[in-house]
Amino acid sequence: MNDKNCSISLKDIGVTYNSGGKNSVNAIEDINLEIKSREFIAVLGPSGCGKSTLLNILAGFVKPTRGTALMNGKPITAPSFERGVVFQTPILYPWLSVMENVEFGLKMRKFDKKERLRLCEKYLKEVELLEFKNYKSYELSGGMRQRAALARALAGTPSIILLDEPFGALDAFTKINMQILTRMIWAGGKSTFFLITHDVDEALSLATRVIVMSKRPGRILKEFDVEFTYRINETVLDKTRFSKEYISLREEILSLIHHQTSDASGYII
Ligand SMILES: Nc1ncnc2c1ncn2[C@@H]1O[C@H](COP(=O)(O)OP(=O)(O)O)[C@@H](O)[C@H]1O
Ligand SMILES: [Mg+2]
Repeated sequence: MNDKNCSISLKDIGVTYNSGGKNSVNAIEDINLEIKSREFIAVLGPSGCGKSTLLNILAGFVKPTRGTALMNGKPITAPSFERGVVFQTPILYPWLSVMENVEFGLKMRKFDKKERLRLCEKYLKEVELLEFKNYKSYELSGGMRQRAALARALAGTPSIILLDEPFGALDAFTKINMQILTRMIWAGGKSTFFLITHDVDEALSLATRVIVMSKRPGRILKEFDVEFTYRINETVLDKTRFSKEYISLREEILSLIHHQTSDASGYII
């Protein structure tokens, strides 16, 4: 990942799908958010509250109905290599090898072969997939596929990496490993991360800022600056996760979400 400046500014953003039609859906409303370089933002909120809509605005896939979305002072109007995206279901070309999948965007951007190789190997190594570089995606486990998708996003050296519930479909053990890997990549690089999750512990143990959204139309209910991620890097996960401060913040966030949904198990359904 590079050290490109990342400054995102969302002002009074609202999205209404099928506006005016009978299937009109007001997805998000009054979103004001400033993202600075090196932040790790995690977004929590009830299912259907507009989290993916928000991420899709940042990615340039969805145009806001109201308000303005700027990155480094310029309107976000279309997808860009400046913003790497990883979805819950990794989208890999099945007929290409892991290496070719990671290389794909770089080829499209006409990077020369040497540079493509350098970037692919660097990030495949980072996600611990270098020895599987010649495997086809159907030969990989779910966790490995997600790591390949992460390597592909990282290899594009974007200014920000956008993750939409990337570990939601993984088994608990693989998920924890992916979280550790993500924390290490964030701590070791100079990148900015924006993660959507339905797991409070994932948010608290990875982010530097946690944003809680209301039910639809999604608004920002509350933001929390957190520093557990730094502490986990210095000590250990369990020591941090069972600290009084962590538990009390976890409770606060869960009760906030409990008012939006009827589930307070730690997962937002
Ligand atoms: N392309 C679309 N067209 C119409 N409605 C949509 C579209 N995408 C999402 N929605 C609706 O907008 C609301 C928010 O969806 P989404 O952003 O996916 O929420 P979340 O990611 O929090 O579950 C939902 O009611 C969803 O059905
Ligand atoms: Mg979603």
